[in-house]
Amino acid sequence: MSGNPLDLRPWLAQVEKLGELREVRGADWNLELGAISELNVKKDAPPALLFDEIKGYPKGFRVLTCSTSSPARLSSILRLPVQATHQGLVETLRGKPAQWQAQAPKYDPIVATTGAVLENVQSEPDVLAFPSPCWHEMDGGRYIGTGCSVVTRDLDSDWVNVGTYRAQVLDSKHVAVDMVPGKHGRIQYEKHKKAGKRFAMAIVLGSDPLGYLISGIEIPFGMCEWNYIGAILGEPVAVLKGEVTGLPFPAASEIVLEGFVEPNDERTEGPFGEFHGYYPGKAGTAPCMTVSRVHYRDNPILMGSPPAKPPNDYSYSKAVMRSALLHDALVASGLSEVKAVWAHEIGGARMFNVVAIRQRYAGHSRQAGHLLSQCGVGAYMSRYSVVVDDDIDPSNLHEVMWAVATRTDPAVDIDIIRRGMGSKNDPMYVAYGSDTPWTSKAVIDACRPWDHLHDFPAVAEASKDLQEKTRAKWKDLL
Ligand SMILES: Cc1cc2nc3c(=O)[nH]c(=O)nc-3n(C[C@H](O)[C@H](O)[C@H](O)COP(=O)(O)O)c2cc1C
Repeated sequence: MSGNPLDLRPWLAQVEKLGELREVRGADWNLELGAISELNVKKDAPPALLFDEIKGYPKGFRVLTCSTSSPARLSSILRLPVQATHQGLVETLRGKPAQWQAQAPKYDPIVATTGAVLENVQSEPDVLAFPSPCWHEMDGGRYIGTGCSVVTRDLDSDWVNVGTYRAQVLDSKHVAVDMVPGKHGRIQYEKHKKAGKRFAMAIVLGSDPLGYLISGIEIPFGMCEWNYIGAILGEPVAVLKGEVTGLPFPAASEIVLEGFVEPNDERTEGPFGEFHGYYPGKAGTAPCMTVSRVHYRDNPILMGSPPAKPPNDYSYSKAVMRSALLHDALVASGLSEVKAVWAHEIGGARMFNVVAIRQRYAGHSRQAGHLLSQCGVGAYMSRYSVVVDDDIDPSNLHEVMWAVATRTDPAVDIDIIRRGMGSKNDPMYVAYGSDTPWTSKAVIDACRPWDHLHDFPAVAEASKDLQEKTRAKWKDLL
């Protein structure tokens, strides 16, 4: 078996066939590329954007953005039947993450001897040769790594981790990599730092987007993301071992930086916007990688996925992935009659989550809300957890807020949980009551009151049946 080298280009050809790829020529890496991508992703059906002839760069040195922002593209990345709606996608996805996780140990990557990423090599590195964007006006600089996968190794075991952590260009040979405390790459780094040892890194800056989709979500501690991706593909990932670091990266990667963080080499990094739409802090410090080798394909494609006020480049993919994970977690916790879950993009798929249930017993809706707010995948930075009846589509904010406005008695139906799991990245951290990142959380029970199901006023709208018949008869009008 030769393995799958995670080649971006066959996937791009597929996206072109779906009619979801737009080429953009002549944009400036300085702010323009970021602003175009940001405005594009606010559209109803945003295409993926492939930028070429970027100002000051040779033709062929390209940047891809908005790769995961539609149900069709996201389902194709996940190797699922192509879906037209996000509900369809969440339903198809449900149960799969648990299967992939269970299968992952069987899919150790296969080491290849050659691969497209070896077409070009810089042994005298110049990361400025690539059109890294300055995405937003208040960013601290140019970010080469947003839709990237950072490969690192543990100090005292052979565990290889792959995480999506932003990487800022400091100069032609140095990039700063922001790994938040607690992230797996950070844990490995801290061990090296304590032991006074240099820390090897390989940064993959473009591949089949399945790469950064999986390195950007929480895969269990100790598990290698290449294994997990192998389980999704049903075949191992084909990797090359870096000449300098020995770290494994996909053989068809677009661009790979190899190098080391020397002991205590931490430099100023940021500021940079976050997934919730704010700059929560000023510039900080981050481990600085000294790049010693750059490998890249002919006409390389840099994968960009900048965070910003949602909807942003990757908020849709996070909403879908986290909705499926939350739905599975609620069912696994023993909650019955879960109809649908949606982790809204407005909350960065973390801060405003909704579950629809069919109520079966007194206390059912409150149980659903507390579980949604506190389950493993849901607790971090959850702020509002809303429970609605199953006549409400949890992904439709109008319907959800109509239920909140009309089916709640605030004094009774909003539970406040104090000292819940928050984050220093929360824009509200400045107003938290303590330096410790705990925060309150609200559970809003927007279901019709259980003891008044029999006499709760009827909804004033045409029945489903009448709506369907009317739509069919008056389809030109409606
Ligand atoms: C596009 C994108 C950018 C991200 N940027 C960062 C970042 O700069 N720092 C960070 O710690 N996490 C970042 N994340 C979140 C992590 O990738 C995510 O928590 C992942 O689980 C980290 O991998 P780990 O669990 O192996 O540590 C980003 C995610 C995405 C999708």
